Amino acid sequence: MSAKTIRKALHALNGRVHIPGDKSVSHRSVMFSALGSTPVHITNFLHADDCLSTVGIMKALGARIDKISDTELVVTGNGLHGLQEPAVVLDAGNSGTTLRLMMGLLSPQPFYAVFTGDTSLSKRPMGRVANPLRMMGARIEGRNDGKLLPISVLAPDHELHGIDYDMPVASAQVKSAILLAGLYASGKTSVTGPYPSRDHTERMLSAFGADVTTDGNTVTIKPASELVAPSAIDVPGDISSAAYWIVAASIIPGSDVILENTGINHTRTGILDVMRDMGADISLDNIRTSGGEEIADIRVRSAKLHGTKFGGALIPRLVDEIPIIATAALFADGVTEVSDAGELRVKETDRLHAIATELGKFAPGSITESEDGIVIRGGMDIVRAECDAMDDHRMAMSEAIAAAAGNGAEIDRSDSVRISYPDFYQILESTTID
Ligand code: S3P
Repeated sequence: MSAKTIRKALHALNGRVHIPGDKSVSHRSVMFSALGSTPVHITNFLHADDCLSTVGIMKALGARIDKISDTELVVTGNGLHGLQEPAVVLDAGNSGTTLRLMMGLLSPQPFYAVFTGDTSLSKRPMGRVANPLRMMGARIEGRNDGKLLPISVLAPDHELHGIDYDMPVASAQVKSAILLAGLYASGKTSVTGPYPSRDHTERMLSAFGADVTTDGNTVTIKPASELVAPSAIDVPGDISSAAYWIVAASIIPGSDVILENTGINHTRTGILDVMRDMGADISLDNIRTSGGEEIADIRVRSAKLHGTKFGGALIPRLVDEIPIIATAALFADGVTEVSDAGELRVKETDRLHAIATELGKFAPGSITESEDGIVIRGGMDIVRAECDAMDDHRMAMSEAIAAAAGNGAEIDRSDSVRISYPDFYQILESTTID
C-alpha cells in the first residue's frame, strides 16, 4: 500500500464543513431499529467501514435494510425476539463497537453465532465483555477462553439473569453489551463504572421505550417484551470527526471554520473543554436537539495554544480524541500531560505508543509515554515527517493534521480513514491546497 503524501497547508481553513454522521450513534441506530417491528428511516448515517460491518451483521441476522442513498437507510426488524440464526460467520471487520455490542445482543438468543474480524480486532481484549455476560448465564467460547476472536456465542442453557456489575474501566462498549443482554434477562441489570461514559445506548433504548435509568455512575435496565421503534432517526455529526477540524483550525493561523450539525452530547465534549483550556477560540451556535441528542454548529477560529494537564473523569469524554489533542499539544507553547489513559493501549493500535513514536516524528524528542499517559513538549520545531499510521484511522488523521499545519509528511498505512471518515483527505486537500 502506498504512503500518503500530505502537503503543508498553503492557506488558512475557512468556510463550513459538513460533519459526517456519528459512528457510535450510526451503529446503534441500525442495531436497535432491527429490534423493532416497524420501518425506521435513518438519515445522516455514517457510510464508513465500521458502520457497514454492523449493517452486514444485522442483515445476516434477518433484518431488512434498504439503502436509499449512502447516508440514508430504512431498517425494518422482526421484533425484539425476531433475530434469526446467521448462516454465515459474522465479520465485525475493524469495529470493536460492532463486536462488543453484538456479543451482548446475541448472548440471550436461542441460536449459535460465530464472530471474526480483522488483524487489529483479533488482538483486542474481549474478556471484558465475555466475563460479565457469562455471569448472566451466557455461553461464550473462543480463542484464549473467549478473550480473543474468533468467538462463538451459543444459545444459553436457560434464560439470562440480571446482574449488578462493577465495571473496572469506564467503557461504553462493555456497558452497552451488558445492557443489551439485560433487555432479555430475568430481573433488572445494573452496570456501574468508575466514571460516566458515552450514553448513546441509554438514550436510544429509552427512545425505543425500554426502561433504562441512570443514577450517578450506575445505569439500570429492566427486561422488555418489545421495543417500539421511532419512525425516523437523524444521526448527529460526529464530534470525534469534527475534532480534526477543531484542532486544524486552531493551529493553522487565520482559520475560521463552522462545523455543521455536530453532536455535543455532554459525554462526548471533553475535546471542547480541553481545547478551550489550551486557549482555543470555540463557540457554539444554533444549539438544538435532534433525535434525543444535542447538536450545534461549532465555530473555531485560530488561536495561540498553551499546554495543559488532564486525566480521570475527562478521559472517557474524549477517549478517541487523544491522538488529535496530542497534535494540538505539539503546536502549543509549554507542556501537555495526559494521565489515566491506559485504555488507549487497547484501541485499534496501541495509541499511546503510536503517539510517542509516530506523532513524535514531527518534533523529535517532544513526546514521551508512560504506562498510562503521555507528556508532550510543545513549541519545538516541526519538521517534515515520514511516519506510520499503523492502520489506525485516528492516528492517520492526527498525523495528517500535524503535516498540514507543519511541514508536510509521508504517512504510511494511512488508508484506514475509511473506517470512520472516508472523505477526510479530500476535505483536507480541498481546504488547504491551492
Ligand atoms: C464507543 C466507545 C468507546 C470508543 C469507541 C466507540 C462506542 O470505546 O473508543 O470508538 O460506540 O460505544 P470504550 O467506551 O469501550 O472505551
